[in-house]
Amino acid sequence: MNEVDIGLASEFNDPGRKIIESEGIEVGVFKLGGEFYAYGNVCPHMGGPACQGQIIAKVDEVIAADRTSKGLAFSKTQTNMVCPWHGYEFDIRTGRHSGNSKVRLLPVKVRVSDQGRVIVSLPPEIRRSIADAGLGRPNQEKRPSA
Ligand code: FES
Repeated sequence: MNEVDIGLASEFNDPGRKIIESEGIEVGVFKLGGEFYAYGNVCPHMGGPACQGQIIAKVDEVIAADRTSKGLAFSKTQTNMVCPWHGYEFDIRTGRHSGNSKVRLLPVKVRVSDQGRVIVSLPPEIRRSIADAGLGRPNQEKRPSA
């Protein structure tokens, strides 16, 4: 199945998320600021379910003009998900790690149909990428080679 209908866009909280399972793979779908984003639910660190973690504003250090720290503050522009296994944080809008933008979740296309339904695109190559990324998870069986 290349496209999966996961329900009405209006039924999502904002910010909000839904974890879907389709033919053995998991995808995290997020709504933030009226837009939808989706990623394979596999952390690039050690395969944890990154999309299931807490949703929080990024924490920034506030630096004064004299270059001294004024403490920490929640970002007004960036919202992260926090992988529940070891705390890696990923920007919900980009899927990239907050401290190292080369580390990122696998993006999945998501759109809202004319009927207001949230549609996730899962062509075979995306399914395979997500499944392969999850092979590092403890207790994950090796997929037989094709
Ligand atoms: S598996 Fe996600 S932070 Fe380690």
